[in-house]
Amino acid sequence: MRTYYCGELRKNHIGETVTLCGWVDRRRDHGGVIFLDVRDKSGIIQIVSDPQRTPDSYADADALRNEYVVSITGRVTQRPAESLNPKLPTGEVEIYADQIELLNSVRKQLPFQVSTADTEDVREELRLKYRYLDLRRDRLSKNMQLRHQVTKAIRRFLEDEQGFIEIETPILTRSTPEGARDYLVPSRVNPEQWYALPQSPQLFKQLLMVSGFDRYYQIARCFRDEDLRADRQPEFTQLDMEMSFMSQEEIIQLNEELVGYIFKTVKGIDLPRPFPRLTYAEAMGHYGSDKPDTRFGLKLVDVSDLLKDCGFKVFSDAVAAGGIIKVLPIPGGNEKISNVRIKPGGDLFKEASEVGAKGIAFIRVKEGGAIDTIGAIKDNLTEEQTEQLLTMTGAQAGHLLLFGAGPEEIVNKTLDRLRLVIGQELGLIDPEKLNLLWVTDPPMFEWNADEKRLEPLHHPFTAPNPDDLDDLKTAKAQAYDLVFNGYEVGGGSLRIYQPDIQQQVFDTIGLSTEEVHSKFGFLLEAFEYGAPPHGGIAYGLDRLVMLLAKEESIRDVIAFPKTQQARSLLTDAPDVVDEKQLRELYVTSTYKQKK
Ligand code: AMO
Repeated sequence: MRTYYCGELRKNHIGETVTLCGWVDRRRDHGGVIFLDVRDKSGIIQIVSDPQRTPDSYADADALRNEYVVSITGRVTQRPAESLNPKLPTGEVEIYADQIELLNSVRKQLPFQVSTADTEDVREELRLKYRYLDLRRDRLSKNMQLRHQVTKAIRRFLEDEQGFIEIETPILTRSTPEGARDYLVPSRVNPEQWYALPQSPQLFKQLLMVSGFDRYYQIARCFRDEDLRADRQPEFTQLDMEMSFMSQEEIIQLNEELVGYIFKTVKGIDLPRPFPRLTYAEAMGHYGSDKPDTRFGLKLVDVSDLLKDCGFKVFSDAVAAGGIIKVLPIPGGNEKISNVRIKPGGDLFKEASEVGAKGIAFIRVKEGGAIDTIGAIKDNLTEEQTEQLLTMTGAQAGHLLLFGAGPEEIVNKTLDRLRLVIGQELGLIDPEKLNLLWVTDPPMFEWNADEKRLEPLHHPFTAPNPDDLDDLKTAKAQAYDLVFNGYEVGGGSLRIYQPDIQQQVFDTIGLSTEEVHSKFGFLLEAFEYGAPPHGGIAYGLDRLVMLLAKEESIRDVIAFPKTQQARSLLTDAPDVVDEKQLRELYVTSTYKQKK
């Protein structure tokens, strides 16, 4: 049917008669000469028809409208000098249409203009409802092709260069321990019993190591019923990997090679290796975040020791209650950030209170090192303390110092948020910069204040640092996250493969023997039959592609994503089902609509 794709034609095709298929991107009538831009997955080409030169196609060209599907046969011709289009790869040529065949028309009004030339900002709801039309457009079409390039590069590297094999793992399975809520599926043939959809292939990939596959990977769909954000979907895709007989250093090195290969193949970029590393403690200390954006400075400084007894009640109370005092120093901030924005009602105050802060104390540094504050801090600082504060924070005239005081978690969240907002606002973040780093040595457990117990920071199969076995509660984990421009794009760890250490971990998080056996008995049993030392990692493929595509939401790199309410606007799922289906599944609803 076709001899070329639209986007392939160049000067060297001039004189050839070609047949192309595609969609009418735009039709323009220039006083009796009709110009058609015809589009397919490869790009766009200009078609010309007029009564003199192409009498056989003119009436057909005239009848075409946007998004009609056509097959066109014609001669490739040099464009006249005045109509060369250097923006189009095909912009030096055009096709004189000898014959146009209408393959299909558009029968309804288009919900939005699909044309590449149209920069109309279409509402996302509309784009999601008519996703197949949105996917015809340049931006999403390119994103999907990029996504394919990424998975292709992954497969080439892992399979052809590193001896990994891809193995599929079940979708109808048991609950996996990644910490989110499960999606459940009732079993018709096992009344009152439910499968869970996997939050990740974690348990199966560990079993595959016990089976001796040595190097496994999978482009795996994962399901997590959690609150959605721009970088979270209820179903998302991981590049999931597991390896036997490798140290943490070897795993990290192999993964740097993999990421380097992806960047080189799809973007032509040579990433400098090794990637920088921060320990979890350094990341939290300097940036208040376990996924710091280190494309810019604005590092935090802990001043708890210096100011805990300064007499300013907010500070001393915070430290007395087990909390901390930290500063975000902002060079030039005096001029750029007004008091109104920091005080109640201001936008920065609002940012801080959204993550739990009660307020933001601040100091403005004047010429000669004098400080100026609203409220009581200044009166409570001795000259020596002031001087030390300026030294510790590197503050000079013009600096604005924003303080967080209170529980460590809230202070870090607050200053992390303010640092990102202000870094963005002051133009400190270079969008062209690619910033990849490992964050290593996180603690094994974190305190769940609601349930008053320790819980694993990653999952309960993460191996503790062998030096920390004496006190597991405060142990560091042999785990590593890969952070890319402030996003967590991957995370993994060495795993526990000795039953006694695994038991200690379950004891530490307060899992009873019965619970352990009902949840993970099969895995622990497998470990009794000769489990090799092993470890792995999983990347958020959607996030990785989003960042490579310079998009701000993973929805723009997923063909058929869901909304923040976990709905598909295209298929209108989820939906109610027949009573009969529910009866077969022995399921009834207890839902009561709120009055
Ligand atoms: P983790 O839970 O850190 O690790 O997940 C790995 C990566 O998956 C991405 N991710 C998500 N992407 C989109 N939407 C979501 N809802 C979502 N949740 C997570 C993140 C994250 O870094 N089994 C372990 C891996 C291992 O230890 O090998 C795991 O799943 O980019």
